Amino acid sequence: MTTQFYGAASLDGFIATPDHDLGWLLQFGEIEGTSYPAFIRDVGALAMGSHTCEWMLKHTIDMGQPWPYAQPVWVFSSRTLRSLPGADVRFVQGDVRPVHQAMVQAAAGRNVWIVGGGDLVGQFHDAGLLDELIVQIAPVTLGAGMPLLPRRITQPALRLQSVTPLGGIFAELRYTVPKP
Ligand SMILES: NC(=O)c1ccc[n+]([C@@H]2O[C@H](COP(=O)([O-])OP(=O)(O)OC[C@H]3O[C@@H](n4cnc5c(N)ncnc54)[C@H](OP(=O)(O)O)[C@@H]3O)[C@@H](O)[C@H]2O)c1
Repeated sequence: MTTQFYGAASLDGFIATPDHDLGWLLQFGEIEGTSYPAFIRDVGALAMGSHTCEWMLKHTIDMGQPWPYAQPVWVFSSRTLRSLPGADVRFVQGDVRPVHQAMVQAAAGRNVWIVGGGDLVGQFHDAGLLDELIVQIAPVTLGAGMPLLPRRITQPALRLQSVTPLGGIFAELRYTVPKP
């Protein structure tokens, strides 16, 4: 069981523009040789922040598309967000540690995916719960936006596992987060 961040970032380290736009990423369409099908098969539970959830809603259910996850999803928010018919979504707030325990239990041996945003990934890292980062670097820069992981992680540094080119467009970087 691994707790992972998996997602795409611009070359300058942003996962969305300041106004939560992902057009810079979606312009590339389906990525040839994408690791996503194999990745999501091994995921048993997901966590995301409210802005990521709102983006997902706008681009799936609000457009007549089904919610994309069969696995349970924990959404962090201090607000009351609308309920999602047909989706196993649990709203939570505060300390990530008890939520992680519940996720691990629900995942039953499969992995836990911290979808983002970056600060939520940071909260799991702060609690010593993040094991791995899998980042597809897109060949674009945004100049500003929502950061990938707004933390200073220098010692011990992340450990590079692999670098994989995808479709001649993305570089997928896999890092292990060493435990101090
Ligand atoms: N490129 C990619 O692969 C990728 C991956 C993931 C996300 N994204 C995009 O990146 C952007 C991320 O947005 P974001 O940085 O604002 O992050 P976010 O994590 O989606 O949303 C942040 C919000 O979540 C809530 N939250 C976070 N931690 C909490 C806690 N412990 N307790 C209670 N509430 C908590 C707070 O909102 P409230 O309390 O006000 O609700 C906070 O303002 C989105 O546009 C998303 O679509 C891109």
